[in-house]
Amino acid sequence: MKVKRVGVLGAGLMGSGIAEVCARNGYETVVREVSDALAAKGVGRIESSLAKAVDRGKLVATDRDAARARLSATTKVDDLAACDLVVEAVVENLETKNELFAELDRICGDSAIFCSNTSSLTITELSAATRRPDRFAGLHFFNPVPVMKLVEVVRTIATSDETIATLVDFAKSLGKEPVLAKDNSGFIVNRLLVPYLLDAVRALEEGVGTREDIDKGMELGCGHPMGPLKLLDFVGLDTTYAIAEIMFTEYREKRFAPPPLLKRMVLAGRYGRKSGRGFYEYGS
Ligand code: 3HC
Repeated sequence: MKVKRVGVLGAGLMGSGIAEVCARNGYETVVREVSDALAAKGVGRIESSLAKAVDRGKLVATDRDAARARLSATTKVDDLAACDLVVEAVVENLETKNELFAELDRICGDSAIFCSNTSSLTITELSAATRRPDRFAGLHFFNPVPVMKLVEVVRTIATSDETIATLVDFAKSLGKEPVLAKDNSGFIVNRLLVPYLLDAVRALEEGVGTREDIDKGMELGCGHPMGPLKLLDFVGLDTTYAIAEIMFTEYREKRFAPPPLLKRMVLAGRYGRKSGRGFYEYGS
């Protein structure tokens, strides 16, 4: 199937990144947010990222303008009716996602493929909200989307071969490297990454090292671009907490249990970069 028009639900960190790479790679892209203010914020984030790409020599100005022209923002789900492919990237909440998928299922064409960028919910429980489980899969991107090369393509027992083939081609057309993953909570990357990040919080809680030394340990000792506490601030502590809760409920294994310090920081509004404070402090 040839994808021409892409819909993206959610213009947060991930949704805006996904919309940007779609528009940059030739797709007519419509991104939907719940309010005009959030839609404008998402578009602003995309414009800044496009400007950064031009500054870094990754994009020429004419391609930036073409990408911007292919992109539109809306608050109406109905505006996604003509999309061939919809990628959902809203808050990590099953009810919210399922309500949106049920609505989309009513308004989109029969051949449209639905994908979720969920980090931890299973694709099967999301596809259950629709009558198109064969045209439903996971398409999991990584933050920052314009930079990170990987996309996990997640297949459920009901996803058709044709849907997977379309998504693999689509991911490649975005300049990404697709990997195939089974529909287990966390897929490949978060299954390995989340326990590691949670363990870093436990290490800090237990006084194993300072925040700087824990991060330096993994950066200089293992060659990671960011230590785990910096990465937690980057991904968002609230997001990581929600992911850990879902994975713990799924697997009932201690390694996925969010540590008390993470919970307290989320309760205190210390979400990381997005709120100006997490394990580190960030200027506005
Ligand atoms: N568009 C295109 N390219 C861009 C760009 C943009 N908007 N912004 C930056 N780039 C390019 C730069 O040109 C540079 O390319 P080069 O290496 O060829 O010169 C490269 O991206 C790195 O950019 P910067 O120099 O600005 O930044 P840093 O070198 O400081 O790296 C980072 C920043 C890429 C964020 C790096 O620190 C990193 O890789 N961190 C780890 C990120 C990570 O682990 N992400 C996964 C999180 S988990 C997740 O997302 C899953 C979810 O479910 C939780």
